[in-house]
Formats: sequence, structure tokens, C-alpha cells
Amino acid sequence: MPHAVIVGADRGIGAALVNRYATAGYYVTAVCLAGGDFGTLANVRVISGIDVTRDTAIHSLTEQVADTKIDELVHVAGIGVFEKWGAFDFDAMLDHYNLNALGPLRVIHALADNMAFGGKIGIVTSRMGSIGDNQSGRMYSYRMSKAAANMLGVTLYHEFRPRSVAVILLHPGTVATDMTKGAKGWDSFTKPDEAADGLFQQMQALGPDTPPEFRHQDGTLLPW
Ligand SMILES: NC(=O)c1ccc[n+]([C@@H]2O[C@H](COP(=O)([O-])OP(=O)(O)OC[C@H]3O[C@@H](n4cnc5c(N)ncnc54)[C@H](OP(=O)(O)O)[C@@H]3O)[C@@H](O)[C@H]2O)c1
Repeated sequence: MPHAVIVGADRGIGAALVNRYATAGYYVTAVCLAGGDFGTLANVRVISGIDVTRDTAIHSLTEQVADTKIDELVHVAGIGVFEKWGAFDFDAMLDHYNLNALGPLRVIHALADNMAFGGKIGIVTSRMGSIGDNQSGRMYSYRMSKAAANMLGVTLYHEFRPRSVAVILLHPGTVATDMTKGAKGWDSFTKPDEAADGLFQQMQALGPDTPPEFRHQDGTLLPW
């Protein structure tokens, strides 16, 4: 049974992705900040209490995963708090960077030795992190931290190249989760299960020779 690790699995897209991998027959490690509820799925193991901004939690994650090989790792955890021009809280903006950009680096660095030869790494960033696609401005710290996460992914690709581990940066679409709740048209946004299915398909499409790319879950190639 292949082993997938999903980080940020408490709710939203991360929880849906755990279900998607589990129903596809993977053994899934769901890494949660608080905890996740995956009902009767026997092939899901929950590791809770992992705050990806804290080094102590990351040490605990390494210990709990121990020497288990990982075939696919998807980092989903992230925040998006939108600040107003003229009312910047720079400490809060640093929190964005710490979670959205350094979070996946902490996790992937900590689990690097567990990655199987020919394995796959996905990082859920956001189209908001695209420099080429920025047509509306605003959302400074979210955009900047996600752009940094995109850069992280390409850099990791080079790091893992000798072990044929593929790396992809993923945009889940505009998804009806707690993060977007209250936004106009929320009811018509993509549902988490649909987004998770697309993300899963993009991970499936990766091969050892796939270059690092930034893709929408529907398969569209996005500009950096
Ligand atoms: N929704 C969208 O339209 C959309 C669009 C583009 C990109 N994204 C990206 O997709 C990812 C998931 O978003 P979502 O919409 O599913 O958001 P969400 O419903 O708000 O879920 C966020 C997840 O991240 C976890 N998390 C938050 N802080 C964490 C920390 N310090 N350490 C570990 N886990 C932490 C949360 O755990 P708790 O439940 O315990 O807080 C939760 O599981 C994010 O990276 C987001 O930027 C979302």
C-alpha cells in the first residue's frame, strides 16, 4: 500500500485530500494541528498537535513518522488573513510567512530522509502567489508568502533531483472552506471534495521527469 502524508488535515481541503487518498487505497498519515475526524477509514493514521510553525512540533513529527517511507507528501496547511492598506500589522504578516512559506520547508526538511526514491511532493500554494497573474493587487502578505512558497518548491526540486523526487506547486481553485467563508458567491465555489480530487489527479500525473510546475487542480498550467 503506498503511503501518503497530508499536512494540514484538520478540515477544509486537507481533510478532503486525506479522504481522497484513503479511498484510492493509500495508507494515509493525516498531520493535524488540533486533530481530524476520518470516521471509519481504517487506513488513516492521525498525528495531531503538529503546528508547522514550531520546531518542537516538527521534531515530534519526525519521531512519530520514524523510518516509514513516504511515497507522496502534500503540504496543505496555510492561512489567509487579508489586511487593509494603511493598517498593516507587520508581526501578523510575518506569521503568514512563517506558516505559508517556512511551514512547508520545515516539514519537508524534517521528512526528507523518509521520501522514497521516485516519490512526489506537492505544496498547495495559491494563484494569489503568482506574479504573472496578479491583476488585482492587495492581499500583500498572502500573495508574498505564497510566492515565496512557489520559489521554495522549485528550489526543492533541485534539492531532491538526485533522488528523482518530483515537486509540484498546486492551486486548489476558489474553494468553499472556512478560509473563504463570507466571500461573495461562497455557495457556488468549488467544493473541497472536488478540489481534492483535482489535486490528487495532478499528483498522479507527476513522473520522475516532470519539471517543477505551478498548476491549477483542473490541470491548467499557471504563470509563476
Ligand atoms: N480555499 C481557497 O479558496 C484556497 C485558494 C487558494 C489556496 N488555498 C490554500 O489551500 C490551503 C488550505 O486552505 P483551506 O481553504 O482548506 O483553509 P482552512 O479550511 O482554513 O484550513 C486550513 C488548514 O490549515 C491548518 N493550519 C492552520 N495553521 C496551521 C499551523 N500553524 N500548523 C499546521 N496546520 C495549520 C488548519 O488547522 P486547524 O483546523 O486546526 O486550524 C486547517 O486544517 C491553504 O494553504 C490555502 O492558502 C485555499
